[in-house]
Amino acid sequence: MSTRTPLIAGNWKMHGSLKDSEALVSALCAGVVGSEGPQMLLCPSYIYIQAVGKWLHGSAIQLGAQNLAEPTGPGAFTGEVSGTMLRDFGCEYVIVGHSERRALYGETNELVAAKFVTAQSQGLTPILCVGETLEEREADRTQTIVQQQVEAVLESVEVEALSNAVVAYEPVWAIGTGRTATPDQAQEVHALIRAMIGSRDVTIAAGLRILYGGSVKGANAKELFAMEDIDGGLVGGASLDAQEFLTIFQAA
Ligand code: 13P
Repeated sequence: MSTRTPLIAGNWKMHGSLKDSEALVSALCAGVVGSEGPQMLLCPSYIYIQAVGKWLHGSAIQLGAQNLAEPTGPGAFTGEVSGTMLRDFGCEYVIVGHSERRALYGETNELVAAKFVTAQSQGLTPILCVGETLEEREADRTQTIVQQQVEAVLESVEVEALSNAVVAYEPVWAIGTGRTATPDQAQEVHALIRAMIGSRDVTIAAGLRILYGGSVKGANAKELFAMEDIDGGLVGGASLDAQEFLTIFQAA
């Protein structure tokens, strides 16, 4: 790990209840004292954002969302939530292009790039998720896929935009499967992403936080975070267990 401040982000996906969430946040707040060291970020479902924001008040833990509407709005977009609304409730970050959104809700590279732009225009820091499927990895297409996903965003913004963004490499085959990328496998892709940005601006590349996601657990976090270009984690399942998530946080 470098001088970049590590970020440990919990993506709760569509899990939990109001009651579970309160207990989880309370245990995390007790475990995260002071604002030195790594940062912790929680991304609850939209409906819990307001409550989680209240519980986090006065703590060093930050708040984010899992998605946002692409149109800058306001407007007639039934069921959508804008970045401006998320800001109203204390969100500072938003995940864009999670593989579940790409696979289950048809989000294309172009839409993800547009959401990235919208997020920044509304004062949110986007966490851009990229990653290949198992089929793509086995066909030796990992580099190509990840490059296309990053390139789609770089076609929409100047490289300077990356100084207010986070990238998360989440190999689809490692998400929720218990099968983590090895530290070397992850590092290889993280280095590729940093080199892509570096070919445009070395300083921005050096400051960019690139998180790893995919079955991060207390037991494997340390070896992943020890890699030069891995600046923290985007954690799904293990972020729902306070003890486990705190172990991951401490590993950073
Ligand atoms: P898991 O940690 O459950 O594998 O999920 C990773 C993820 O998708 C985080 O966004």
